[in-house]
Amino acid sequence: MYVSLKEVLNEAQSLNMAIGAFNTHNLEMLPEIIRAAYKQKTPVIIQTGCGTANYIGHRNLVAVCKSMAEEYGVKVTLHLDHAKDFNEIRKAIDAGYSSVMYDGSSFSLKENILGTKRVVEYAKNHGVSVEAELGIVGGTEEGIVIEKEKIRYTDPQEAVEFVQLTEIDALAVAIGTNHGQYRSKTDVNFSRLKEINEVLDIPLVIHGGTGVKEKDIGKVIDLGIRKFNVGTELLIGWNNESKSCYMSNEENISNRENVVPCLEVINEIVQRKIRLFKNIND
Ligand code: 13P
Repeated sequence: MYVSLKEVLNEAQSLNMAIGAFNTHNLEMLPEIIRAAYKQKTPVIIQTGCGTANYIGHRNLVAVCKSMAEEYGVKVTLHLDHAKDFNEIRKAIDAGYSSVMYDGSSFSLKENILGTKRVVEYAKNHGVSVEAELGIVGGTEEGIVIEKEKIRYTDPQEAVEFVQLTEIDALAVAIGTNHGQYRSKTDVNFSRLKEINEVLDIPLVIHGGTGVKEKDIGKVIDLGIRKFNVGTELLIGWNNESKSCYMSNEENISNRENVVPCLEVINEIVQRKIRLFKNIND
């Protein structure tokens, strides 16, 4: 079943778990992420930035997600990650994405509210869910760097006002994580997350999931995280495996021989993360 973000996050809420939102950077990775979710018997969120969506083609991404959701009987949401431009969001919605993120976090609060409301109005008319962000997450994504001085944790009271005015389906929070952090792990600000979770009743989203210590995953889920974004870990896994395959295989070998080992790496990472996102202590 091809579903909206709202639907899978409601399910996560009722089970006190998080749904993995995995960034795909090419069309090869996508089916393997869905196969891994099928093995783990959970819904899955596939996400792409605007760059990847334009490179692969929005309709191609929608077609693969829909057809695999049906074939495997897995709930799949296709989500546009970190879009700032309304036209990019409209393009994704018109092509059939079931969820979008409007990222107005670098704008003033007023501009962020106005931009988010515009997206919510368009998305809701098409049955599409909306995630927005308040506060500023650090790190690097798609080549865009947010320096340490610019990081701003989400303010709980501002978040209440923001959610009431925009009527979004999920809120991305800045609580100490950083995009693209893979050489080290971060210290999540649990007390800030707790304060936010106490005043809001919508699903919360963690960005920069690669940099979250695996031992902290259950803790953030208990404090309201329902969508858990992981991108860089897949990218690093793919790139390293790919480098070693291309270096060691003959140049006239089928390309498949270089790609299949990368898919195995992706499958293993996604299944390991999903097991943690189920938040079962045994
Ligand atoms: P990482 O790439 O750091 O895992 O973060 C993913 C993310 O938050 C996508 O928006």
